[in-house]
Amino acid sequence: MKNILVTGGCGFIGSNFILYMLEKHKDIKIVNLDKLTYAGNPANLIEIEDNDNYFFVRGDICNEKVILDIFENHNVNTVVHFAAESHVDRSILGPEEFIRTNVFGTFCLLEVCRKFWKDVSDKKFLHVSTDEVYGSLGETGLFTENTSYDPSSPYSASKASSDHIVRSYNRTFGLPINITNCSNNYGPYQFPEKLIPLVIDRIIDKKEIPVYGKGDNVRDWLFVKDHCKAIETVLVNASDGETYNVGGNNEITNIDIVRTLCDLVDEFTKSNNSQNLIKFVKDRPGHDKRYAIDASKIKNELDWSPEYNFKTGIRETVLWYINNRKWVENIKTGDYLKYFEDQYNERL
Ligand code: NAD
Ligand code: TYD
Repeated sequence: MKNILVTGGCGFIGSNFILYMLEKHKDIKIVNLDKLTYAGNPANLIEIEDNDNYFFVRGDICNEKVILDIFENHNVNTVVHFAAESHVDRSILGPEEFIRTNVFGTFCLLEVCRKFWKDVSDKKFLHVSTDEVYGSLGETGLFTENTSYDPSSPYSASKASSDHIVRSYNRTFGLPINITNCSNNYGPYQFPEKLIPLVIDRIIDKKEIPVYGKGDNVRDWLFVKDHCKAIETVLVNASDGETYNVGGNNEITNIDIVRTLCDLVDEFTKSNNSQNLIKFVKDRPGHDKRYAIDASKIKNELDWSPEYNFKTGIRETVLWYINNRKWVENIKTGDYLKYFEDQYNERL
């Protein structure tokens, strides 16, 4: 791990990862390749803009030439691949970009690695993926690394496809890869289309909170800083070809999350009765009922386990959104308002 290409480093998890790695490791170089879609925000990385070990390239992972130039200019020997279209609801409104970026873009990166790394030693391609590739669980059971793939949404199907392609480059070409499949992340810098930042923002603005269906779907929440540490651990310690599930051990129903957020915002802003804003709305088509991760492989083999429990992580997150109103307000302009209307107008 030395000259790292991070793709999608201006997104939620990528930004947190770059900040974490540059703070902790003084002997690495990070090149961030990001297209700056609606989800990419260079403001997340303002504090490391002048760091001599950090470089930003605006570009598309579907463009092999751009990737190859970075490999040549920076002698890249490690790729941490976050870049993706990441929101399930958007994949239902328009799947095409998901197939292009998540499937074809991943293929382009792998092709450059295959060609450029022929005579390079000490190299690694780490593909950051999701537990949604496994589909939905019923009332019981956990996803393990051996659970069959059974994706439900165009988003999860595109991530499943990319996982298969990444694995095939290991088996066929011997490319040193790892795949991590993690559960739902939360924390600072998450785009306010995902449940937690969207709900915090609606509560602060005293607007109705859309809860899909009965609010009884379950997700296993992982604090983003724990996720960053898991990725670092896999980069440093995992054997080539291995896959790891990463989860926070925090199974919670959506309605419980929403109620907790209402109570925390009420506590921090000295408001009250925010729970009255909750509105149950038309469900998401193909909505997976429950995700839950068995993270024993990464715990036993690599000695990683989450440091945050949900109570501490969610307090830190709510406070971050309250203290960074400007960050959210800057996002809530034309494109965002249009998306909100398309997604919620019939529901609210
Ligand atoms: P995000 O949507 O916040 O950020 C995605 C980033 O990728 C943005 O900066 C965007 O500009 C960039 N990007 C998109 N298309 C690109 C392209 N063609 N070329 C270059 N850059 C491009 O996503 P996130 O939540 O940070 O997720 C990062 C990764 O983690 C994704 O691969 C996602 O599938 C995976 N993941 C996320 C979660 C979660 O809870 N957020 C959970 C499991 C897995
Ligand atoms: P989301 O944050 O979109 O993540 P994912 O779909 O990848 O799990 O949604 C988390 C859960 O919250 C999911 O069960 C859908 C639900 N949800 C709502 O009830 N209302 C909303 O407005 C959103 C965005 C999500």
